[in-house]
Parts: sequence; structure tokens; C-alpha cells
Amino acid sequence: MYHAVSTDDLNRPLIERLIQMAETFRTTPRHILRARLQGTLVATLFYEPSTRTRLSFEAAVTRLGGNIVGAENARENSSAKKGESLADVFRVVGAYADAIVIRHQDEKEMALALPYSPVPIINAGAGSGEHPTQSLLDIYTLWKEFGEVDGLSVCMVGDLRFGRTVHSLLRVLSFFQGIQVTLVSPPELALDDLLLEEIKGRGLSVETKERLDDVIGEVDVIYQTRIQRERLPAEIHLSYATEDYRISAQTLERLPSRSRILHPLPRVNEIDPDVDTDERAAYFRQVQNGLFIRMALLDEILGGVLR
Ligand code: NCD
Repeated sequence: MYHAVSTDDLNRPLIERLIQMAETFRTTPRHILRARLQGTLVATLFYEPSTRTRLSFEAAVTRLGGNIVGAENARENSSAKKGESLADVFRVVGAYADAIVIRHQDEKEMALALPYSPVPIINAGAGSGEHPTQSLLDIYTLWKEFGEVDGLSVCMVGDLRFGRTVHSLLRVLSFFQGIQVTLVSPPELALDDLLLEEIKGRGLSVETKERLDDVIGEVDVIYQTRIQRERLPAEIHLSYATEDYRISAQTLERLPSRSRILHPLPRVNEIDPDVDTDERAAYFRQVQNGLFIRMALLDEILGGVLR
């Protein structure tokens, strides 16, 4: 059985296949798409807030003709409130559905519960650990915007410590050749040393800069992120100049015309709305790519059950 729980479950040939599938799904008439997962049932369990990820998974299943059962705000509204373990939740929900899409606050608990699931688990974000399907749509977006991913210089900005999308994207970028990574964050939110060593060990060329301004003239990609305020431990007090990490119309003046700005969203104030209409702002195109690549992933995992 195939789970999509960490970026270790992904590899370059699989990602390339999913991208091709996503491209096909983009142009396939809806009535034909609806046959692909007809009769399947997918459960969505969201223990943390979500708009895009939950709705895009639900839209993806529905467009492929499958059905959804789900628990939103599962931390409060499900039997987790009664103290049920995640292992038991997987056993129970796995008795109803063909796959479980889950967002959970504790990545360790999710890993421990995994062996108890009788059906594939898709990780829709786990604490400050990983968010592998976001990295799929990030890579798909890079591929669409640039035609290829190899050789890109990518600058990751913002909360590199607690932002799970950054952790997954860095790992997935290491499947590609000639990637240059620059990390820009307030010191309190710098990438964890262990992960830094890990991605260097995987062959990524990484450098760290203090301010976005120091790299803006040379990068292909700015991957902007929000400060994960809800995850900050009480002992961390942020003391930084917002302008050093914010993208505004002024920033655009120095950004090369071929460059692109990505953001997993939601945005708070780290990208000025003035930037949205610029061709280089790719974050709303990124959202739509998420729908098609999640359709491709679901088809990859569940299609075999039916065909
Ligand atoms: C991200 C997440 O949940 O990690 N959102 C998303 O899924 N697109 C990013 C965030 O919350 O900052």
C-alpha cells in the first residue's frame, strides 16, 4: 500500500509522472474525468485549520467522480476530544473509506499511527514537520513557470523553522540537479541545523543571507512564507525589521523579469497586494496547480483499486 506521508514517499520519476497526469487532467473534459474514481470514498480529517488544502483535496476527489466524508476541526469535533488515539481513528475511518487525507498537529503521532491504517494515508500537513503535497504543487508550479526545475536558484524567505512547506520543498528540490538555495529569515526563525545538514547532504547548494535585499537581483524564485505565529514557542520574541522580509512594489524593481514569486498561502502581510497583478507573482496560479496535482496523486493512489 502506498502512503504519501513524507517527502521520502516521493521521487523524481513519480513527480514527473504526476506532473504529466496533472497536465492531462487540466484539459480533459469533466464528464470523462468523473469516471476515474467513481465509487471510491475518501475521508478528510482536519485537526488544524485549512482552506486551500482541504477544499482542493475535496474538489479533486469530486472532480474525479469519488465521494468525500470528512471531519473539519477534528480536534474539537471528533472523538479525539474523548481521548481516542490516532491509531484507532485510522482503523475506524479506514473501515469506511478507501483513503484518508489528514492534517494533524503532531507529526510524530501521525508516524506512529501509520502502521494501523488499513488504507492509504495522505499527509495534508503535519505540525511544523512536513507538507508533501504542497511541495508537489510547488514543484509543478516551478515546472510550469520555467519549463524545468533543474538549475533554478531558489530563495526561501520568512519562517524557515516552523514552516512545514519549506521543509518539504527543500527535500523535494534535492531530487533535481543544479539547484541553488538561499535562505533568508530572522535569526529566530532560521532553518533548523539538522535539516540544513540533511539537505546539504542530499546535494543542495545552500547559502544564508540576512536580508532579501542581498539576493533579490539574482534569484529565479522567491518562495515567500508567513510567520507561523500559532507555532511560536513562548520563549521566542521576534525582533526584526518587517521590511527586510517583505515583498512590495519596490522589491519588484530589482527582481529580474524572468523571476517568479511563490507563496503557499495564506498570506498575511509579507507580500503587498500591489504585487499581485505583476506577471512575476505566481502564487494564485500555484493554487490552481494544487487542484490538478492532487487529482493526479489521488488517481495514482486510488486508481489502481478500481482498474
Ligand atoms: C500552509 C500550511 O498549512 O502549512 N498552507 C497551505 O497548506 N497552503 C502554509 C501556512 O499555513 O503558512
